[in-house]
Amino acid sequence: MDDLRDKYLTAIADAGDEAALEDLRVQAVGKKGEISLKMRELGKMTPEERQVMGPKLNALKDEINSALGARKQGLADAALDERLRTEWLDVTLPARPGRSGTIHPVSQVTEEVTAIFADMGFAVAEGPQVESDWHNFDALNIPGHHPARAEMDTFYMHRAEGDARPPHVLRTHTSPVQIRSMELQGAPLRVICPGRVYRADYDQTHTPMFHQIEGLAVDKDISMANLKWVLEEFVKAFFEVDGVDLRFRASHFPFTEPSAEVDIRCSWEGGTLKVGEGDDWLEILGSGMVHPKVLMAGNIDPAAWQGFAFGMGIDRIAMLKYGIPDLRAFFDSDLRWLRHYGFSALDVPTIRGGLSR
Ligand code: PHE
Repeated sequence: MDDLRDKYLTAIADAGDEAALEDLRVQAVGKKGEISLKMRELGKMTPEERQVMGPKLNALKDEINSALGARKQGLADAALDERLRTEWLDVTLPARPGRSGTIHPVSQVTEEVTAIFADMGFAVAEGPQVESDWHNFDALNIPGHHPARAEMDTFYMHRAEGDARPPHVLRTHTSPVQIRSMELQGAPLRVICPGRVYRADYDQTHTPMFHQIEGLAVDKDISMANLKWVLEEFVKAFFEVDGVDLRFRASHFPFTEPSAEVDIRCSWEGGTLKVGEGDDWLEILGSGMVHPKVLMAGNIDPAAWQGFAFGMGIDRIAMLKYGIPDLRAFFDSDLRWLRHYGFSALDVPTIRGGLSR
């Protein structure tokens, strides 16, 4: 017994890998292993002999099994240490140029627009995508019976049966962030609010989820003239041209009075869009002076403060600036499209460093 014990414990300690350990296990305690055969001999012994030998053999078997287990764990630990020693990588190395990802045009344009407005003193504000019916509609002077509600193709959230409260909605525009910003900060106020919005619509120029960016400025003595200047500065900076003609066209939104849609001068010569020249006009945003009822909904006194607001489609101005023909491709996650239209991750748009390069 002592010889057997020494023989196997030494061999286990010397085993160099899992396969060698498995061989030893079969040899010692496998079905036909040396120790298993010895245990079979117990049947031929006298009861007295068996009383002594039985427990001894069992103890030996346990000892060998636990030595096998311990050695196996030791080998695994050593293997892991070896991997950790050889497979390290330097996370501070720069990305390999051919293998870095690209920034999606929506992210790029959001950064560009944000940089331009930040330069004019606007802070970024955000609101929830699942929005209360009140913030998305009522507070923006769109009461329950208003036709704009029907026109917006709203996605409604589920309410438990018997719950009479109006259901939340997937926000149909970024305008509810106007209300939230006023509630949170009061006047004076200058924010831009980029984010996702949702409408049940799908074709070459509409997807059920898209992106808008909202602007809101509330202060004393604010007028349409301020709105016009800010938008002209924005369009020049965004399209990276020296001068642009903008056309303010009278329009209607429930949350602004007066309201204007803004068109930009462009040409379609040769089938490609050029901004700033030509005889065509392209609508790029909606805007106006904040309706007094909207200021009141945001707890701001319309007798003391005025404001202007505007909203535009980020995807839409990305398509215009970068000549991307189909909106739906924005959300296909096609790697070839992303490589073609994507932007370098390291070129962060700034006013002074350049927006798009
Ligand atoms: N919320 C409007 C839309 O989604 C855009 C807009 C914003 C118009 C702010 C005027 C003022 O079409």
